[in-house]
Amino acid sequence: MLTAYDYPTAKIISSTNLDGILVGDSLGMVVLGYPSTINVSLRDMLSHTRAVARANPPQLIVVDMPFLTYEIDTKLAVKNAGLLIKAGGEAVKIEGGEEIKDVIKSLIRAGIPVMGHIGLTPQRFLKIGGYRTIGKTKQEEEQLMKDSIELEDAGIFALVIENTYADIAKRITEKLTIPTICIGAGPYCDGQILVIHDLLGLSDFTPYFAKSYVNLKEIISNAINQYINDVKTNKFPEKQHYKEKES
Ligand code: KIV
Ligand code: NA
Repeated sequence: MLTAYDYPTAKIISSTNLDGILVGDSLGMVVLGYPSTINVSLRDMLSHTRAVARANPPQLIVVDMPFLTYEIDTKLAVKNAGLLIKAGGEAVKIEGGEEIKDVIKSLIRAGIPVMGHIGLTPQRFLKIGGYRTIGKTKQEEEQLMKDSIELEDAGIFALVIENTYADIAKRITEKLTIPTICIGAGPYCDGQILVIHDLLGLSDFTPYFAKSYVNLKEIISNAINQYINDVKTNKFPEKQHYKEKES
């Protein structure tokens, strides 16, 4: 899986063999310039979900429920998730462990498939104490095991495991029936997910667990500089770029 937040990216992904698209709340940082995902609103998610959905990709479109749209009560969670589905999402993803079981069950009851997300849950970075690897202590490891089992039991169809030790992700993957999709959690999962801006070399900051396959920042910057240079030296526009009435 990869994230996508806009129409042209979803169009490009449409012609690949990628299995799924996540309209992640990471869009807050990589697209909107917010300091964290805490700032992402439901309106932000709705707008970007609509843009991705307009590309009508064959891939499953999963949408993140942003901070404070599912924690307050289950009714509000169902309403907010429903809006994301109406915007073109085909499933929602929620961060959290056993404490969100009721929310998950309510969403599924309403016909909304839910993807789980454990390990590092960025919406809770303040409580966690930053963006760190989860599972160092035995207690944290056992909590991850418990959460994953409880989430599967609640009915999630897949589980994102972010930034935990590879052997813990392996334990979870072996224990669960549903697919695990990992980011920064090693190779022993059923699938992988990356933020597309990291893959493309477009991010301000790329975490150690992400791989850039191309440096688009450099390619884009070079193209802009060439354009500036061409305009200043009268190399652009050329004959084919304009019409002349008299000739
Ligand atoms: O928002 C996001 O991009 C995510 C992935 C990193 C899993 O939640
Ligand atoms: Na996210």
